[in-house]
Amino acid sequence: MPCAAGRRDAEIFCADVLSGLAESPKRLSPKYFYDAAGSALFDRIVELPEYYPTRCELSILRAHAPAIAALFPPGCALIEFGAGSSRKARILLAAAAHIETYVPIDISGDFLHEDIAHLRRDFPRLAVHPLVADFTRDFELPQIGPKVGFFPGSTIGNFEPYEALAFLRRAGEMLGPGALLVIGFDLVKSTHVLEAAYNDAAGVTAAFNLNLLTRINRELCADFDLASFAHRAFYDRARSRIEMHLVSLRRQIVRLNGRAIAFQEGETIHTENSYKYTLGSFEALARDANWSGVETWSDGLFCVQALRTTRDG
Ligand code: AVI
Repeated sequence: MPCAAGRRDAEIFCADVLSGLAESPKRLSPKYFYDAAGSALFDRIVELPEYYPTRCELSILRAHAPAIAALFPPGCALIEFGAGSSRKARILLAAAAHIETYVPIDISGDFLHEDIAHLRRDFPRLAVHPLVADFTRDFELPQIGPKVGFFPGSTIGNFEPYEALAFLRRAGEMLGPGALLVIGFDLVKSTHVLEAAYNDAAGVTAAFNLNLLTRINRELCADFDLASFAHRAFYDRARSRIEMHLVSLRRQIVRLNGRAIAFQEGETIHTENSYKYTLGSFEALARDANWSGVETWSDGLFCVQALRTTRDG
């Protein structure tokens, strides 16, 4: 049993890690990056000079909030998928007084509740219904007015194309016929700019990647030697994605939950993909998921789009 024996989440984490490390090439799911330390490191990543997506998306949202808000139906509910914080939603809420309800959905309840107290203070007329759920799976949305989905942060880029398609289809079904979805995604650009964003000079992204091993050591009684692994991130232009890996710097055996896991020198654990889209490739993805583009706002680096469902029900 894992150290945190008996807890269902720990068992699932342990099973996922063991099966990912038994694969060839070895892999770990990026969803495990976000423990308390990982979330704090991610908060630092978004402030890095090299990491442009968050800055770009915030300025696009600020510049175009009135135009985005003009698309929202009166009395609507803004449903935010993966609302780690309400920072971006606040821009839309401030521009659209006709949003009646805000439904932030996040897997971490702690995070949601902390942020929501501040939001209730700042928007006293807004009904806030936080939902603790894994939005990559099926769950029920509350029965409230016309729904507008909001999926910022280019989180869609961390999904494999088949997962992105499944998410967009499910979102369309959940939001209902004629619904609107405002989504942020990162654009294909020069390798130099992309690779710098995931290999920052201060080493914060490296620490974020390596923290996954610290978490496994702590929660699953493993003995990864952090000095024997290094962060590697590169852009694969053929697949339009940044790949992040942890590279074993020597031949070694790691013990995890009673198992011995062998690493060759140079062998990697693939920890994350971050897909980059062109306007055309994103349009094709959205179309396959029964969404069509309503408006596009972009600064050439990042893109925010409003989509509408193309099919009833
Ligand atoms: C959360 N997600 C959109 C980030 C990205 O850019 O793919 C995660 C990240 N990984 C390393 N830096 C940022």
